[in-house]
Amino acid sequence: MPVLHAKPQAPTDDKRWKIVETRMRRMGDRPAALIEALHAAQEAFGYLDTDALNYVGDTLGVPHSRVYGVATFYSFFTLKPQGEHTCVVCTGTACYINGAKDILSGLEKALHVKPRQTTADNKISVLTARCVGSCSLAPAVIIDGEVKGKVNVDDLVAQLEAM
Ligand code: FES
Repeated sequence: MPVLHAKPQAPTDDKRWKIVETRMRRMGDRPAALIEALHAAQEAFGYLDTDALNYVGDTLGVPHSRVYGVATFYSFFTLKPQGEHTCVVCTGTACYINGAKDILSGLEKALHVKPRQTTADNKISVLTARCVGSCSLAPAVIIDGEVKGKVNVDDLVAQLEAM
């Protein structure tokens, strides 16, 4: 009888993991899906932390060392936000239509940061993600892991400036 291995558990019950899981499953949960899966995780969360790298590796049957090797080799992967706080702006279709572009330009104007950059005082890192799974709340951002919906640019800037 073949030994069945338990499916690795997502690091948290954050529903964005479902998006990543679906992408991995569609690719057959195989090692060849590694780059695609890392992209999916980065798009969902804005960056790849250790838990994300290990989970993707475990799901696809890729050794952690190889996952790290790939994630650090390609410059389009970000392993961690540099700032004290992260603001991930969703640029998926629903959010884009509902003003994600205005949010990004508002952040650039007020805080002088573009996506994948951190403010000069190292307080806020701005990242983008493609659909964070809260389309009904578009435009959505995630501040330090917490989803904020129906975002108003001025309120967002005020909130970030107060951090
Ligand atoms: S497009 Fe932004 S949450 Fe889905």
